[in-house]
Amino acid sequence: MGYRVAVVGATGAVGREILKTLAERGFPADEVVALASGRSAGAEVSYGEDRVLKVRDLERFDFAGTHLGLFSPGAAVSAVHAPRAAAAGCLVIDNTSQFRMEPGVPLVVPEVNPQHLARRPKRGIIANPNCSTIQMVVALKPLHDIAKVRRIVVATYQSVSGAGKEAMDELWSQTRGIFVNDPPTPEQFTKPIAFNVIPHIDRFMDDGATKEEWKMAVETRKILDPDIQVMATCVRVPVMIGHAEAVHAEFETPITERQAREALRDAPGLTLLDTRDDGGYATPLEIAGEDAVFVSRLRRDPTVPNGLAFWCVADNLRKGAALNAVQIAEELHRNGVLDAA
Ligand SMILES: NC(=O)c1ccc[n+]([C@@H]2O[C@H](COP(=O)([O-])OP(=O)(O)OC[C@H]3O[C@@H](n4cnc5c(N)ncnc54)[C@H](OP(=O)(O)O)[C@@H]3O)[C@@H](O)[C@H]2O)c1
Repeated sequence: MGYRVAVVGATGAVGREILKTLAERGFPADEVVALASGRSAGAEVSYGEDRVLKVRDLERFDFAGTHLGLFSPGAAVSAVHAPRAAAAGCLVIDNTSQFRMEPGVPLVVPEVNPQHLARRPKRGIIANPNCSTIQMVVALKPLHDIAKVRRIVVATYQSVSGAGKEAMDELWSQTRGIFVNDPPTPEQFTKPIAFNVIPHIDRFMDDGATKEEWKMAVETRKILDPDIQVMATCVRVPVMIGHAEAVHAEFETPITERQAREALRDAPGLTLLDTRDDGGYATPLEIAGEDAVFVSRLRRDPTVPNGLAFWCVADNLRKGAALNAVQIAEELHRNGVLDAA
């Protein structure tokens, strides 16, 4: 018997990718229900190549009998409806930031900390990390296993799809506007995004960091190791899909570039693309739609003891959101955890 699966936020950038990923990977679902706000009720979304689902209103949906809920309707909506779904027996995998740092809610990247998926969490909610955190910890895990990461300095180059479907439309319309002499009016971003970069993602916090930067630090500690220090600068760039990161890592014990290269080559979910010649590195444009996290430009950082630097790129809608959530669901299925729903 297959599962009844609800995709919440099904009309959004992440929700659509979740539907695509479930179908592509043949997740054992007997029924998939697409849910969004009342505004979208009755609209149609694709589920795989040949199936179309009618969107239903989340507010009116009863989760009883639904085994799995894949949520991406924004934090405020998840705050209300994820606990409601969990109370009805539906196991929730939530893509929003709402529950990530709450005790009792596992924050999981299957290549890094799958041990949290062996049993149903008490609250019935599992959190999917932030997209920029996911790709960084996938790349760091094999290195951490060799020499223990102690400190990270990272600068991100994050695509507009990380801010949702309306942000993608804004980059498109501003880019077009420049050629037809129609000045950009920022709505989704604080400044024009076309032909620009913006060092500001999510809101400012008291210490001058943005919440996106804070998330990278606290989530990395929750997933990988509570002793890792992370200093992040998160930047929005005029790219549609795919986040890139320049990562500088300091380790507790020595690690050679060769050891790192070998570990990365063998690591799950990771592709080392690093030939040190023209084009011998990954860029967002060419890896959009791919599952792997790509690591390039790996080199020693001679300015600190035990330092390495690398460039890391992944599709934020896929590994950064939908694929990671579906991998969590697959692991729960393998462990028999969904059957208990
Ligand atoms: N984009 C990424 O790379 C990424 C990565 C990781 C996590 N996330 C997180 O995932 C969430 C969604 O991101 P997104 O990029 O998919 O945003 P999006 O494209 O703006 O989509 C938002 C989705 O939420 C639905 N929604 C909004 N208000 C709702 C309500 N009151 N009730 C039910 N559904 C409602 C929307 O439905 P309507 O069409 O009906 O409005 C839409 O389906 C955010 O919390 C984001 O932080 C995003």
